[in-house]
Amino acid sequence: MTSFELNQPLRKPRRLIVTGGAGFIGANVVHYWCQKYPGDRVVVLDALTYAGNRQTLAVLDDHPNFRFVKGDICDRPVIDALLHEEAIDTLVHFAAESHVDRSILGPDAFVRTNVVGSFTLLEAFRQHWQSADRPADYRFHHVSTDEVYGSLSHDDPAFTETTPYTPNSPYSASKAGSDHLVRAYHHTYGMPTTITNCSNNYGQYHFPEKLIPLMCINILMGKPLPVYGDGQNIRDWLYVGDHCSAIDAVLHSGTVGETYNVGGNNEVKNIDLVHMLCDLMNELAPDLPVRPAQELITYVKDRPGHDRRYAINSTKLQTELGWTPSVTVQQGLRLTVEWFLANEDWWKPLLSEEYQAYYRKVYA
Ligand code: NAD
Ligand code: TYD
Repeated sequence: MTSFELNQPLRKPRRLIVTGGAGFIGANVVHYWCQKYPGDRVVVLDALTYAGNRQTLAVLDDHPNFRFVKGDICDRPVIDALLHEEAIDTLVHFAAESHVDRSILGPDAFVRTNVVGSFTLLEAFRQHWQSADRPADYRFHHVSTDEVYGSLSHDDPAFTETTPYTPNSPYSASKAGSDHLVRAYHHTYGMPTTITNCSNNYGQYHFPEKLIPLMCINILMGKPLPVYGDGQNIRDWLYVGDHCSAIDAVLHSGTVGETYNVGGNNEVKNIDLVHMLCDLMNELAPDLPVRPAQELITYVKDRPGHDRRYAINSTKLQTELGWTPSVTVQQGLRLTVEWFLANEDWWKPLLSEEYQAYYRKVYA
């Protein structure tokens, strides 16, 4: 049991807004939270862009403390009304445009949602917190990415919380902008904020444009597995359930004004990861159109500005808050492949005409 879990009997129920709660990580956290803290109010604010999926939260509709609101984080009156009428004390901010390839095709939406939307939330929360006489137990938690730290070469040490920001894509630059604003709101106004910068996540409810779900689904459909460049780029993979427990730890025991890196110490080259997924599918999927699935691997043109390596040092979170990842990449990938095999009803409808058009643009 970690140090923050030992304090649980003393906790008072919280009243949360979760922005982006219909997306991949947000939805996982909402499920986790409603199950673990059923006495907490959880209000999801989500615009349901292509990446948002109302179905992912449908089983929570009977939960008495859950509410879903379709709305945009750039819409200040909607946010003001929700903060007030729901007497919110905690805002957990996931809503974002989150895919690097889409940010290369069209950066505008990234600046709008990630920078302007985050700013709109910060301003609304500041006014809400100040008019309640600045309660110390309010919290604005911002969920960010390790990509703000830039790209590592092979021998560089992993990113720490003091690594200078060097974002390379429109996505990571827009996330860096929002991180700086959050930091400034603590420094200038004393607003109780925290930030987590997390490495690549994977697991259930992952939208099929990202590497792991895309490969799982393409294997099941017998489509080519597009590996960018030489396939030697490295990512540090974290199972999404471990990201949920990290956010739990920071919300309960994190120090305001601080940033915590979250990562699983699971650095894997892309090509090795694709082979691991093929092996799992060969073992677990009875009717693969192409077997072994490795025959589908296809090297394609590299992503412009492709970051070579990410690696995250989460010692601060582990030593100060007692968080540890519970799942190795081998265990997490197996759980993920099993989930995609069992949940075709969830992912099939996502392969829409919009998705096909996006796919053609990136992989043409
Ligand atoms: P996602 O793309 O799956 O979901 C984003 C959600 O935000 C969707 O439900 C979408 O409808 C919603 N949204 C987008 N624009 C909105 C707007 N203007 N107003 C309201 N809602 C809006 O993203 P994800 O992978 O779940 O990532 C969540 C957060 O975690 C993001 O901030 C991302 O930067 C960060 N993050 C992601 C990863 C990862 O590996 N996926 C890693 C580290 C950090
Ligand atoms: P992705 O899941 O898009 O996450 P990020 O770019 O935020 O790290 O990609 C993970 C890695 O996989 C990244 O190095 C790009 C690579 N990749 C491919 O090789 N092929 C693909 O089709 C995709 C989507 C990603």
